[in-house]
Amino acid sequence: MLRRLHHEQPDSFSFNKENLIWAGEQIKKYPEGRQASAIIPLLWRAQEQEGWLTRPAIEYVSEMLDMAFIRALEVASFYFMFQLHPVGKVAHIQVCGTTSCMICGAEDLAEICKKHISPNQHELSKNGKLSWEEVECLGACSNAPMVQIGKDYYEDLTPPKLLKILEEFEKGKIPIPGPQNERFAAEPASGLTSLKEFRNTELQNNASVDLAVTLKDTINTTKEVRTKLEKHKK
Ligand code: FES
Repeated sequence: MLRRLHHEQPDSFSFNKENLIWAGEQIKKYPEGRQASAIIPLLWRAQEQEGWLTRPAIEYVSEMLDMAFIRALEVASFYFMFQLHPVGKVAHIQVCGTTSCMICGAEDLAEICKKHISPNQHELSKNGKLSWEEVECLGACSNAPMVQIGKDYYEDLTPPKLLKILEEFEKGKIPIPGPQNERFAAEPASGLTSLKEFRNTELQNNASVDLAVTLKDTINTTKEVRTKLEKHKK
């Protein structure tokens, strides 16, 4: 799929104070001459700051890492995690349209997005809160069909369930991610058939969902959440 920079771009970009300090720390993690290895986290932070990845942001990061703009653009245009177009100010919905999801109803999910958000991908909804696009396999095929919203996967979806999730986001809520059919993770829909003794029945959520529910690491990662995440990693 061809991914191009948006036709309208802001004049400039620079990291805010907090992000500038953070970027400096990331760059120091790599040996001398290998600073370009920090490209993905820096582009990601630039996107978190602006909502989407602008040309000035890619230029700024490439200069910071002393690499050619085209090399940074190659990274930004390769990964779907980088949004090269403006996105909804509340959430951007990535609908997986690859084989497993398609067989299990991805086209119906895309229809919901067309009706509720915009007939065309990468266009904002009328209220500016949502946008959507179809993406390639997101690696959650056993929980098809699914969408990614921010950092979270919403899996085992049906059109009414997706619509409810979109409406919740518009109301300012963050619906609980993960399987939407009461599966814990990717076990058989009828329940575990083996390794049953390893299932901890006290856990409410799988590890990925728990990050969102307990640490609030979801669509908008605030400074407070980042601090919690750092402590959690240690
Ligand atoms: S086909 Fe949709 S997650 Fe793999």
